[in-house]
Amino acid sequence: PQQCNLTGWWKNDLGSKMYVSEVDSQGNFLGEYHTAVSSAQKPIEPSPLVGSQHLDEDGQCTFGFTVNWKFSDSTAVFVGQCFAEKGGEEILQTSWLLREKVDSQPSNWKATRTGQNTFTRVG
Ligand code: BTN
Repeated sequence: PQQCNLTGWWKNDLGSKMYVSEVDSQGNFLGEYHTAVSSAQKPIEPSPLVGSQHLDEDGQCTFGFTVNWKFSDSTAVFVGQCFAEKGGEEILQTSWLLREKVDSQPSNWKATRTGQNTFTRVG
């Protein structure tokens, strides 16, 4: 069976990096997200992430995690799947939602961005 453990350092197509510490026996994990880009005014800081992954041993597990940005009022959630080809590199294909804080409900319509990121293992 191919591996698909999220533990370690990953880098995405925007240049953002994330570190995932040990994945526990339930598939839960913690980590730190170092985004390369931001829509916030304050300087970027590493921010905590919490997530969970399936523990399937076929190298194709799905997972999700939430990032609580320390330098902004926003919250991001990512969902994705790992693809671990035989002898090839592991790739994480993800989709994300970024929720921004708005002043009032009439601004709700513009508060959520979405996109996709591809991560590969660092090192
Ligand atoms: C903010 O702008 O309020 C906080 C930083 C958000 C960074 C986003 S999350 C989705 C996308 N993928 C990244 O690696 N960074 C951006």
